Amino acid sequence: MKKNLIEISKLSKKYKNGLIALNNIDLSIKKGEIFALLGPNGAGKSTLINILCGLSHHTSGEIIINNLDLVKNRKKIKSLIGLVPQELHLEAFETVFDNINYSRGLWGKKRDDKYILNLLKKLNLETKKNSLLMQLSGGMKRRVLIAKALSHNPEILFLDEPSAGVDIELRKEMWEVIYNLKKEGVTIILTTHYIEEAEEIADKVAFINNGKIILVEDKNILLKKLGDNKLVITFKNKIKKLPEYIKNYPCELSDDKKNVEILLSKEKTELSSILIDLKKDSNFLDFNLKKRSLESIFVDFIKRKNHD
Ligand SMILES: Nc1ncnc2c1ncn2[C@@H]1O[C@H](COP(=O)(O)OP(=O)(O)OP(=O)(O)O)[C@@H](O)[C@H]1O
Ligand SMILES: [Mg+2]
Repeated sequence: MKKNLIEISKLSKKYKNGLIALNNIDLSIKKGEIFALLGPNGAGKSTLINILCGLSHHTSGEIIINNLDLVKNRKKIKSLIGLVPQELHLEAFETVFDNINYSRGLWGKKRDDKYILNLLKKLNLETKKNSLLMQLSGGMKRRVLIAKALSHNPEILFLDEPSAGVDIELRKEMWEVIYNLKKEGVTIILTTHYIEEAEEIADKVAFINNGKIILVEDKNILLKKLGDNKLVITFKNKIKKLPEYIKNYPCELSDDKKNVEILLSKEKTELSSILIDLKKDSNFLDFNLKKRSLESIFVDFIKRKNHD
């Protein structure tokens, strides 16, 4: 009996043209969590999701979902899963209701108008139920895709770039929808380019680059571990050169020459000695510890990995 809902070990994917899109990936996803897969274009996010959803086959490795081996139980596992694909592709001349209802039918589930209407309500689409899909805006279409993915009551929902081409207002609405699904016990795995999106809604974050998982961490732990480690010093007057007491640390001088950002070590042992010297500097005005965003953490990881 596996502890996690999804257990991936040593997963690799080589496309027919020889490209290795996934390279020896290990990953565990717990039931009920929102798991964000972050990575640049071509990192392998969609490849991984498509494999987990049974749309594409892996080359080697093992995937266990809900204690079932994916290779031996494709049909059973597929019925547990809903996928909102990266591409917006919908029939133009069908109504919202019929289209979602049809999706449910494809899964061999009994017709359930009440369930679909409730779904439409949750996704703020109830007033659009008789609209033709071609009459919807991009954001509405994406919500229809979510409704389609949920039409057969799946326990796991994959969202491949749910916010691509969605404005900030709609993105927030989408986050709300995702939160509510989590509350109902749905496990959510999403890919995103928007680091702020992972920062906002994810419980767990994985960074993927060049087909390799470079870091998996609880979001809050990650932000805390790598969080407040920039010291920003503000001087009263412009400085011509860095003061002696900081010049040996990794510093960056602002364009107006009044602020210096120092990247501190993880233990921050140098902080106290810098602060002691700062107090003696008559040009010193103020200091702050700056919280690093997930974005800067991510960029650093990618840089470091590319140097390895
Ligand atoms: N069918 C395919 N045949 C060959 N190579 C492919 C195929 N699909 C994807 N790739 C390649 O695999 C790599 C990973 O692609 P994938 O679509 O998984 O990336 P992604 O992280 O989803 O990127 P994006 O953020 O652009 O959606 C890329 O180099 C891509 O060109
Ligand atoms: Mg993709």
